[in-house]
Amino acid sequence: MPCPRSCPPVISILVKVTNRTPCFSRPEPVGALLVQAFSRNEGRDRAERHVEELGHLVESADLLQKGFRIFAVDRMHPATYLGKGQVENLKNDALHLDVEVVVFNHPLSPVQQRNLENALKVKVVDRTGLILEIFAARARTREGNLQVNLAMLLYQQSRLVRTWSHLERQRGGVGLRGGPGETQIEVDRRLIRDRIHRLTKQLSHVERTRSLQRHARRDVPYFTVSLVGYTNAGKSTLFNRLTSAGVYEADQLFATLDPTMRGLTLPSGQRIILSDTVGFIRDLPHQLIAAFRATLEEVLEADLLLHIVDLSDGEHLEQQRIVMEVLTELGAGHKPVLMVYNKCDRLTNEEPSATDRAASRYDSLIISAKTGQGMSELIQALQRAASKESQVFHLYIPVTDGALLARICREGHVLHRQDREQDISLTVAFAPAAAGRIRKTIEPLLAPQGEPAGIHR
Ligand code: GTP
Repeated sequence: MPCPRSCPPVISILVKVTNRTPCFSRPEPVGALLVQAFSRNEGRDRAERHVEELGHLVESADLLQKGFRIFAVDRMHPATYLGKGQVENLKNDALHLDVEVVVFNHPLSPVQQRNLENALKVKVVDRTGLILEIFAARARTREGNLQVNLAMLLYQQSRLVRTWSHLERQRGGVGLRGGPGETQIEVDRRLIRDRIHRLTKQLSHVERTRSLQRHARRDVPYFTVSLVGYTNAGKSTLFNRLTSAGVYEADQLFATLDPTMRGLTLPSGQRIILSDTVGFIRDLPHQLIAAFRATLEEVLEADLLLHIVDLSDGEHLEQQRIVMEVLTELGAGHKPVLMVYNKCDRLTNEEPSATDRAASRYDSLIISAKTGQGMSELIQALQRAASKESQVFHLYIPVTDGALLARICREGHVLHRQDREQDISLTVAFAPAAAGRIRKTIEPLLAPQGEPAGIHR
């Protein structure tokens, strides 16, 4: 629904934050110029790779990349980030390329952002703002939406700037009145504060519900595996291949925002739970780490992490390091991890050495989620990990005790069953939590010593 022509800036922000529907349909993608800075002792190569990654981010945000500029910045300028001459060059480039947004691949202070906008006469977005926009567009569940909204409000609270999705209003002739006056800013701040308060309350309600669900799931006797990895590593593609779950996958960063869980039956018959999680990225905005902690709590609950790495990416070692750092930050650094090197189909003939290097350095798997290469090895590895963790019991259950039989079948995974005259002989695998819960009940039913019974770890 179009915004009324008179909608004041803050309402526009709130409309965006609440519904994330632009007031006007966008006639064409907004053109963007990308900016990457590097210090001379760091070298330009790295900056080139980072600007390429920024290009993916920009595409993911539905902006049209019209060009990029890499500047040597040995000392960040407090007022404008770049030096005076560099700002002047950038202004000419923005004009020449006819862009409406300049995207910095660095966090900018509110003052730098405002000064740059004044100097360049176009919208300026920093890396944090860009990532927030992408997250906002991708969040699916109610909790994901609330978390992103909250993160955006916290970010906007310090800046009160509009993002590029408001540009079409300028184009449409509604026009943004100069900068909002001091009084308007105060009103905006109060409205944002109120909204943050309301969102925090809603979020804590949703989190409580989720925590109950999580506890219920913890009681489910399944081995759980979380797919983690740098954004675009191929987690959803692999998840889909393994579970045929139909999770949205796209050549866009952060295609997945909310964890998706699916059951997977291994060839042994054992059922495990796989969860797909949000992709990690370097310099993830702090607001988002906090906001997404709840989403990533799935990772903390998992029995095993599959760390998916895009082996075809020149930066994969750094990406791998970043993922491990974020995992540690989330408190999941101690979890067992199985390294999975993906996209091996993209390696050229000269590159197998990279594959060999990776494989020899880690206890790892080389796969292609796209072509299916390495899938059976991966499934075997999952099976090994799942059976290592579960506890197997051989039990004799009286045929008359149907309720107990039902409970055992519910709590554990029956590997073998033989119905006899007096009793039922069962070989059952229990996940550690379920085994702890049911141990007392099943002790009298354990097969006597001398039989191929007992507990197998
Ligand atoms: P986020 O949601 O951003 O965290 O991404 P993701 O890790 O879930 O990546 P996703 O599965 O969306 O894949 C990203 C892109 O890589 C898509 O275009 C996939 O088709 C592609 N891709 C994934 N696996 C492979 C692979 O093994 N080989 C090739 N060539 N492309 C792949």
